[in-house]
Amino acid sequence: MSNALAFAVIAERNAFAADVIDGLSRPKKRLPCRYFYDAAGSSLFDEITRLPDYYPTRAETAILEAHAAEILDGVDEDTTLVEFGSGSSRKTEILLEQAGRLAAYAPIDICGQALEEARARLARRFPELEVTPIVADFTAPLALPAEIAGRRVIGFFPGSTIGNFTPAEARRLLAALRLALGAGSRLVIGVDLKKDPARLLAAYNDPHGVTAAFNLNLLARINRELDGGFDLDGFCHQAIYDAAEGRIEMRLVSRRPQEARAAGRAFGFRRGEAIHTESSYKYALAEFRETARAAGWSPRRAWRDEAGLFSVHELMA
Ligand code: AVJ
Repeated sequence: MSNALAFAVIAERNAFAADVIDGLSRPKKRLPCRYFYDAAGSSLFDEITRLPDYYPTRAETAILEAHAAEILDGVDEDTTLVEFGSGSSRKTEILLEQAGRLAAYAPIDICGQALEEARARLARRFPELEVTPIVADFTAPLALPAEIAGRRVIGFFPGSTIGNFTPAEARRLLAALRLALGAGSRLVIGVDLKKDPARLLAAYNDPHGVTAAFNLNLLARINRELDGGFDLDGFCHQAIYDAAEGRIEMRLVSRRPQEARAAGRAFGFRRGEAIHTESSYKYALAEFRETARAAGWSPRRAWRDEAGLFSVHELMA
């Protein structure tokens, strides 16, 4: 392992420890959802995307497949495609198949391993394409490398990851992405839509228990990486829809009074006490356009799947 990579790994572990201590010390306990995605969590999330009731991935994929040419219209050999939170880059392949020659594809992700796997797969599939992976947390202030920043850029932010942020945070993040991408750029962003709560709840409470395992993996990861002592059988998965807030809330609920240590501290839990682990905000089409406008973007086209479950928006800087 290179020194730079070793330092990055240590910094990430320290950030995780600090966030766990902070989150579990609060009167209303919480853990940041970004820590779901270690290797085990990423593969559980992949499994979620294949669940019959988890519609977002299929709906967004259908939109990209149906409209890739339109979405990419005007993109040419001087344009770099920059993706925020690229993970496996699977959805990007749909766009890359339709794109003509591009200047480069710059996937940004916190997981160096996911980036390397994606880079290797894309190199086989698109040998002509220049791929320049960037290991970074795109929620932190981000400056694109000089060779990208001066050129034409199209940002891609699929998966409704934006839904993990409160509307105020989403506005700030969208404003930061606009600054990072620069004047003349555009952003193509996937956003899950408001719909019948029963449909939403089914997507986050699968009968196979995959979402529960995904949620509980957060405690398993604390056990693995922060010398934690969580009894995974002592907590259960819960997902509710808060219609007033327009969000799915995932929690881990303590089945009994218990204590668990993590990162050198001990944390007490009452029976029924919840750790809030994720919010997944849902937007009406016009609501998201308003949020984008408040962040300085000009919303242009928007596409929906046939059932109207999911949306992909085009925003101009
Ligand atoms: C990856 C944030 C879009 O909110 O639907 C899936 C994560 N959580 N099932 C979502 C998730 C539970 C997912 N996002």
